[in-house]
Amino acid sequence: MPGDDQLLLEVKNLKKYFPIRRGAFGTVKKTVKAVDRVSFFIKKGETFGLVGESGSGKTTTGRLILRAMEPTEGEVIYHLEDREPFDLMKLSKKELWEFRRYSQMIFQDPYSSLNPRMTVRDIVAEPLIATKALQKEAVTQRIRETAKKCQVSIEFLRRYPHAFSGGQRQRIGIARALVLNPPFIVCDEPVSALDVSIQAQILNLLNDLQEELDLTYLFIAHDLSVVEHICDRVGVMYLGRLFEMATTRDLFFSPRHPYTEALMSAIPAADPSIIMEPIKLTGEIPSPINPPEGCSFHPRCRYAQPICSQSIPEWKEYSPEHFAACHFAGELELKGAFK
Ligand SMILES: Nc1ncnc2c1ncn2[C@@H]1O[C@H](COP(=O)(O)OP(=O)(O)O)[C@@H](O)[C@H]1O
Ligand code: SF4
Ligand SMILES: [Mg+2]
Repeated sequence: MPGDDQLLLEVKNLKKYFPIRRGAFGTVKKTVKAVDRVSFFIKKGETFGLVGESGSGKTTTGRLILRAMEPTEGEVIYHLEDREPFDLMKLSKKELWEFRRYSQMIFQDPYSSLNPRMTVRDIVAEPLIATKALQKEAVTQRIRETAKKCQVSIEFLRRYPHAFSGGQRQRIGIARALVLNPPFIVCDEPVSALDVSIQAQILNLLNDLQEELDLTYLFIAHDLSVVEHICDRVGVMYLGRLFEMATTRDLFFSPRHPYTEALMSAIPAADPSIIMEPIKLTGEIPSPINPPEGCSFHPRCRYAQPICSQSIPEWKEYSPEHFAACHFAGELELKGAFK
């Protein structure tokens, strides 16, 4: 574990279980374990990637660590420059409003996340107005500065979001997230909904903003090839659980979890002389309503042993800052995407 002075936040044993109500009386029959016993940390100034298939619990994790949603259990300890470390889950409503200045979210779908009845100016201004962060006269100045930084032209501020392309809309979404000058941003698959030709522009913008403003990012993605280029460290999620966490380099050279190995094998190699045999994952991703017992990956794992269907593997640090949850993480010799 890095020292407290390096950390921005620590997530401890985070859980979010959604009850599924059925029947005339709305009785709770089952629960979806969207996030289950997840622990990780994010360092100041880094980009931490969270990767997993659709439905693995990434968005829920992102929302929980901003407390945009209440957890079932768990702690999220923030270490902010000007404050003593605190557990976000223990803040009062009023304190939570103040916390909005420290963290914001960029959403996956820039078409549905911008209110079509508001002008671009009002969309960008909303967090400033809601938190009363600035005097009225300073608001216009801040909006203009932020728009400029995010490559949103000043003339656009009077218009409505429908007038813009996906890339422009995502720039507006980024401007809204940055208008309060927060040090930490959760980017929830910020380029997944965009044309491939626009994706690199948005990623470059996020990269430039990070350097200029000293930002820390949680970058959510459903595919490892995106995180390889932009993340310092990566966590791999599956059915609400974190399976592995390491520096990007360690993860790509020497994964310790069989699921990570399977994801790696599906990445096309940059060097065509390297031929990787994609590891076929048999079967669909199981339902989080009734996940498999023991290691939830065992029905699809080619290394599974009897113990895997009986006991849940512990989340352990195998080498400095390299964590995994697999009974055999210490023994298996797995193939990475880098040789
Ligand atoms: N409000 C909700 N009520 C019930 N189930 C939910 C809710 N939000 C998410 N889920 C379920 O939780 C799981 C994780 O969802 P999500 O965090 O959106 O995954 P991801 O972002 O990785 O695609 C999914 O099975 C999803 O259907
Ligand atoms: S615990 Fe067993 S089933 Fe799970 S990933 Fe490790 S070897 Fe595979
Ligand atoms: Mg999502």
